[in-house]
Amino acid sequence: MKIAILPGDGIGPEIMDEAVKVLQALGEGIEMERAEVGGAGYAAHGHPLPQATLQLARQADAVLFGAVGDYRYDTLERALRPEQAILGLRRELGLFANLRPAILYPELAGASTLKPEVVSGLDILIIRELTGDIYFGKPRGVRTCPDGPFAGQREGFDTMRYADGEIRRIAHVAFQAARKRGRRVTSVDKANVLETFQFWRDVVTEVHADYPDVELEHMYVDNAAMQLVRAPKKFDVIVTGNMFGDILSDAAAMLTGSIGMLPSASLDASGKGLYEPSHGSAPDIAGQGVANPLATILSAAMMLRYSFGLAEQATRIEDAVKRVLAQGLRTPDIHEPGTRRVGTSDMGDAVVAALG
Ligand code: NAI
Ligand code: MG
Repeated sequence: MKIAILPGDGIGPEIMDEAVKVLQALGEGIEMERAEVGGAGYAAHGHPLPQATLQLARQADAVLFGAVGDYRYDTLERALRPEQAILGLRRELGLFANLRPAILYPELAGASTLKPEVVSGLDILIIRELTGDIYFGKPRGVRTCPDGPFAGQREGFDTMRYADGEIRRIAHVAFQAARKRGRRVTSVDKANVLETFQFWRDVVTEVHADYPDVELEHMYVDNAAMQLVRAPKKFDVIVTGNMFGDILSDAAAMLTGSIGMLPSASLDASGKGLYEPSHGSAPDIAGQGVANPLATILSAAMMLRYSFGLAEQATRIEDAVKRVLAQGLRTPDIHEPGTRRVGTSDMGDAVVAALG
């Protein structure tokens, strides 16, 4: 098992150190190799995604990514800005499935904007397709409107499309992920209005035949948005297209109210993945030793589960995080009266100690 460790810039190196500590403490014989990415890539090699970094990411079995986006690099031309590194990695590694768990530990129920009884104990997984949909379909552009009441005016247009194989592979990811959880998949679409999403619904139903042990439900996206805030705990795995997934995954993340707690995975066709916290490089708190490392530590747990089949070790990390929260330890972003404020490195040490 070889992991590419890409800390990035901003708080990236601080939070990554803690995740590396936890992986080392597991003692699973994991080989880790570091490389610069984002602002750190630019500073060291003049490019946010240096060739050597990309090569390491390609030959490693998985990538653990910190964060990029330090505003010291804001004045650079777009192609050299830190964020290009993550877009480049997704493209070069063929990452098409974005897995974003939204988990609200009971101890943090006060952090959500929703009532504690609605969200406490929330544990859902949103799977967003990353390569298709209206984001990349052609033709697209601005043209002269050919017909209708606005004929002759300028109009903007995009094309929504999903290929059979594209839907099939994301559906398989969803059903397989559901097998490791609550065995329920909600496929979110807009089949009542969009041809693309009627097709999506039909293909997901076909793929479901391979997974009789998993329950499948179809839901329109407007209803899904409503249910997410009304009764989010009713969901287990949600699978959807690129655009609906973009919106629903951000909404779901905010149900938990603490960006410093949320991990994510982006997987390719072979199950190889890039794992990273959902947050950015938080330049406002970088270098102060106060960033919450738990999203990155939980991303490492996802890596063990999805890329290496080490579900038991992943659960060990997740349980350790729960124990540390139950002990009342909090980084400033999740601190509440009556809990103990700790820094980045103390939090990492506490997770290591709680591994048992
Ligand atoms: P951000 O997620 O970096 O920060 C938003 C707020 O949350 C800030 O107040 C920050 O201090 C806080 N925060 C974030 N992570 C935290 C943690 N682990 N512990 C405690 N507090 C935390 O988002 P923002 O400010 O919009 O973006 C900053 C930079 O990060 C931008 O350049 C953006 O493009 C980049 N970014 C990079 C991502 C990536 O590396 N995949 C994802 C999102 C943004
Ligand atoms: Mg988004």
